[in-house]
Amino acid sequence: MSKVKSAFFCQSCGYETPKWLGKCPGCSSWNSFVEELKQKKGSTAPFSKNSTDAKPVPLKDIKENIKQKTELQDKELNRVLGGGIVLGSLVLVGGDPGIGKSTLMLQLAIKENLKVLYVSGEESENQIKMRAERIGILNESCHILTETNLEAILTHANQIDPQILIIDSIQTLHSSQIESAAGSVSQVRECTGSLLRLAKESHIPTFLIGHITKDGGIAGPKVLEHMVDTVLQFEGDRNYVYRLLRTSKNRFGSTNEIGIYEMSGAGLRAVDNPSEILVTNTDSELSGIAISSTLEGLRPFLIEIQALVSSAAYGTPQRSSTGFDAKRLNMLLAVLEKRCGFKLGAKDVFLNIAGGIKVDDPGVDLAVTMAVLSSNANLPIPAGIAFSAEVGLSGEIRPVNRIDQRIAEVEKLGYKKILISKNSKGFEASNYKIEIIQCSKIDQVVKAVFA
Ligand code: TYD
Ligand code: MG
Repeated sequence: MSKVKSAFFCQSCGYETPKWLGKCPGCSSWNSFVEELKQKKGSTAPFSKNSTDAKPVPLKDIKENIKQKTELQDKELNRVLGGGIVLGSLVLVGGDPGIGKSTLMLQLAIKENLKVLYVSGEESENQIKMRAERIGILNESCHILTETNLEAILTHANQIDPQILIIDSIQTLHSSQIESAAGSVSQVRECTGSLLRLAKESHIPTFLIGHITKDGGIAGPKVLEHMVDTVLQFEGDRNYVYRLLRTSKNRFGSTNEIGIYEMSGAGLRAVDNPSEILVTNTDSELSGIAISSTLEGLRPFLIEIQALVSSAAYGTPQRSSTGFDAKRLNMLLAVLEKRCGFKLGAKDVFLNIAGGIKVDDPGVDLAVTMAVLSSNANLPIPAGIAFSAEVGLSGEIRPVNRIDQRIAEVEKLGYKKILISKNSKGFEASNYKIEIIQCSKIDQVVKAVFA
């Protein structure tokens, strides 16, 4: 009998079958099977070349390598990685095209004082040099390799023995052991497996850049995310300068951390104090603007909510929202209409979160509500007031988590008052100099702000 040379692979989970199937038995997605040629020489067991080398060891006898985390110069990257880079770790960096993944990684390569090998399958040496010059070349031991063949990359990596290996991107690599095209499930899996082995055996921390599919997942099989130690997502609106680096998986730290960058003419700049940038400081008070203290992961910062309410020019009023869930905005408008007696039914309402930031924290509800009311009445909210509370369906002001951190952030930025829920717990008012006003209904908030 002849050897099977081709098989069908599910493009979303990597399930393998000899026949085409409409629905994947592994992940239940439809129409996801693609035929790929497969021809493997040798085995591809992860970690050990020779599986008989490994022996069971009592846990107490395993020596902990004390200096396992190397701190990087890039503080934001340290933060999302859980304090620094771990020897032998494999980190996947995903993000939309043009968001700045290559820039982030090249910057890491040239700003650290470590021996780095940057492998690019997407750009030429010249392009990389030009980009590096824009950022400002510092690291003399940064090597650039433009190669897509996995075996060649492994040979060079073993020769150079870098302290950090960067692959841009995993979807461009191909192994000559497998016949299918670069970027296909079997290629991505094979290449990641080999790089994982290299990372674990030679303790080289490795960064892989990964593409993103139309619906926002990392392109390639889900196994890719299972294989790596850490998954970082680089996101943001391409029309704005701010970028967020989020951890969606981390074997060495918490996934609650985020890093914030600003894209400038000379690369990405770490933003130490996001609140100062996201809130505009104008002298004149404008109606429709409210400041909210929000949390991204564990990091508190202030955002500016802008609302515009005007009489509807057409029959059906328009509701549009940027950076905030449109359904949630509709709900808040309905609460204002039904529970608080504000007639917004015949008005257009536009909402925007300044700086192109997206929030899904319910703690900004109160600020959204107040921005809408302020614009509707054309009354500016006095300077120095911030909000942090959720608004419930009956118009009640509900408490939010980590209120102490939120208050502290508002106080740090020199605000005079913060309005929160009456039922907020977990903070000691006497610890703060800022005036904390606790309300249970929207009417009370309106009185406290405009009286
Ligand atoms: P890039 O890193 O190529 O994105 P990705 O690898 O995620 O596809 O980023 C490209 C964008 O970044 C491009 O639109 C230009 C912008 N950019 C700057 O604004 N300033 C810079 O210094 C650099 C290097 C890029
Ligand atoms: Mg790129």
